[in-house]
Order: sequence, then structure tokens, then C-alpha cells
Amino acid sequence: MLMSKLSRVGFLLFKELSRGKSRAITGAGYTQRPFSQYLQTLSEIKVSKGAIFQKYRHFSSAATKDSSEEGSEEEQEISVTFVDKDGEEKHVKVPIGMSMLEAAHENDIELEGACEGSLACSTCHVIVMDVEYNNKLEDPTDEENDMLDLAFGLTETSRLGCQVIAKPELDGMRLAIPAATQNFAVDGYVPKPH
Ligand code: FES
Repeated sequence: MLMSKLSRVGFLLFKELSRGKSRAITGAGYTQRPFSQYLQTLSEIKVSKGAIFQKYRHFSSAATKDSSEEGSEEEQEISVTFVDKDGEEKHVKVPIGMSMLEAAHENDIELEGACEGSLACSTCHVIVMDVEYNNKLEDPTDEENDMLDLAFGLTETSRLGCQVIAKPELDGMRLAIPAATQNFAVDGYVPKPH
């Protein structure tokens, strides 16, 4: 008798539990859901939060990048290597817009500039060591060519340092300084680096 009652209670309990999974609580506008569904919802919220975080993190890094790019545009520099007559290399940073003659003087590199960039001498003669970079330069003007004709050791890639202006495409350029220069413009005068 006792066993029969216990079985009956067990059956009722099981029935009630299985029905309770989708039972609605009336009046509260709230539907009771199984625990597994709550877990699923929770994980969906986490995913959603992650997506938002990713989105804003992307926005944040993009904003940082934009501002850093703006900054670098203002102070952009290129790397240039000067190779002296002994083959010694000197790596320097040259701001965009600065001539190679000015860059040499700023960095105590021995490159004459007798006429101080007025295209009246050839003492700032440099040789662009890589054709690839030479092709990125503007063609020399007639005035520059006239002065280059007077330079010692003229080569196909010879240029006047005062006429080569730093621009982004020249990043990594190497310039050789010839062993000798000829100063036809101001005989014997060698200006001190600025
Ligand atoms: Fe004279 Fe460049 S310094 S031409």
C-alpha cells in the first residue's frame, strides 16, 4: 500500500516537472523557460557584447591610426644613406622638402655647396647609387645639366645635391659623394656647413 502511494507521488511529481518547462505565468507577461534557454541567451548576450567591443575597439584603433597618420604627414622624414669617398656610410633622416645638400650639412657630411644651392657650381655633385631611385627623380633642368657637365667623374645618375629634394618615394635612397669636386663658380671658396 505504502509502495503504491509512493509510486503515485513520484508519477505526479514527474508529470508536473515535465509540464512546468513551458508553463506560462499568467498576468506577469513572462514565460518561464528551461534553464538551458537561459544559458543560451546569456551566451548570446556575451557574443553581442563582444561584437560591440570589437566594433568600438576597431573604431578606437582606426581613430588613433588616423591621428598618427596626420602627425606623420606633418613631420614625415625619409631615410637616406650618404656614402663617402672611402665607402663609409652614414644613414640620416631627411624631412620631406629638404634638399640633399641641406641634409648633408645638417648631419656634418662633407658635401660642398659653393654657391649655396643657386645652380652656379657643381660642388654638390652626388651620384644616385640605385637606378631605381634615379628614375624616381625629376629630370634635371638645363641649368642643372650645364653645371653637371663641369663636374668631375660624371655618371649617368649624377645629380646636384642641392636640386634633389626629399620626397616619400626616395625613402631608402643611397647617394655617393664623389672623391673630388671642381669649384668653377667661386674659386677656392668652400662654405662651412650651415
Ligand atoms: Fe652649387 Fe648645388 S651648391 S649647384
